Amino acid sequence: MAEKAKEPKNDRALRFYSDVLGLERLHYGIWNAEDELTLENLKAAQERYENYLIENIPEGANRILDVGCGTGVLCQELLKRGYKVDGLSPDKNQREHFEKNIQTTFHFCRFEDFVPQTEYDCIIMSESCQYIPLERVFDVAGKALRSGGHLMICDYFVKDGATGVLAKSGHNYTLFKQTAETSGLAIVKHRDITKETAKTLEIAKLWAEKILLGADILSEKVRYKHARTWKFLCWLFRKKINRINQDRDLIDAKKFIEAKTYEFFLFRKENPS
Ligand SMILES: C[S@@+](CC[C@H](N)C(=O)[O-])C[C@H]1O[C@@H](n2cnc3c(N)ncnc32)[C@H](O)[C@@H]1O
Repeated sequence: MAEKAKEPKNDRALRFYSDVLGLERLHYGIWNAEDELTLENLKAAQERYENYLIENIPEGANRILDVGCGTGVLCQELLKRGYKVDGLSPDKNQREHFEKNIQTTFHFCRFEDFVPQTEYDCIIMSESCQYIPLERVFDVAGKALRSGGHLMICDYFVKDGATGVLAKSGHNYTLFKQTAETSGLAIVKHRDITKETAKTLEIAKLWAEKILLGADILSEKVRYKHARTWKFLCWLFRKKINRINQDRDLIDAKKFIEAKTYEFFLFRKENPS
């Protein structure tokens, strides 16, 4: 198989979690309602989410493809539990990290270009479905799954009518369900986990506010003593400042819940009749 990959456009919220918060896992996690907003609880939420995915791998499944495997944490856990796992990602840094740390096959390509050499029992897309063109998600998965195999998708989707920066990442939910219906894969399990994931945005906002407060304190002297220079700097960086203000919506839990829905789906590839 010719494997070439384009760099994915990772969204900025994701970069905030990995680069600023230093998280190895690149998904939101499942929070308990009573959890305080701490980094430890965020890590626990991410582990809870990962365990939820693993618990939902159908019995008897052995050969698994982790699509958009990120840093490979889930692959590693699955290997530990005795599954045969392949990772797939078009990101060259993830490839480097994966090949250095994990002893299993890594497919360096976009899922939409993937040409499967084997049939999988289960394909997992954990927060990666949103990066794959909708029409290719089910088409390629259908080819890569054995008859009776399962496709697990856990991701956020954009609700009808949503606008602004939050509407820019994620598939439209209505379109996703329509595409799924005609795909030849049937839904066997479905759960809405929007509320359980949204606390990750609350903690991101808390951290961002702390960072902005720090910047505010540091710039105080310049703002008062060199007011004209400050005004000039604000004008010079006006586009960036606008962008930062827009990006704040990306980490607003209330706006996230209004604009998006975060869903777990397990599909089964039907036997041909
Ligand atoms: C939000 S991260 C999720 C990582 C991991 N699955 C997790 O749950 O922590 C999105 C992943 O999708 C990958 N990705 C982006 N575009 C893709 C594509 N077209 N096909 C497959 N994976 C893609 C990214 O490289 C990254 O690994």
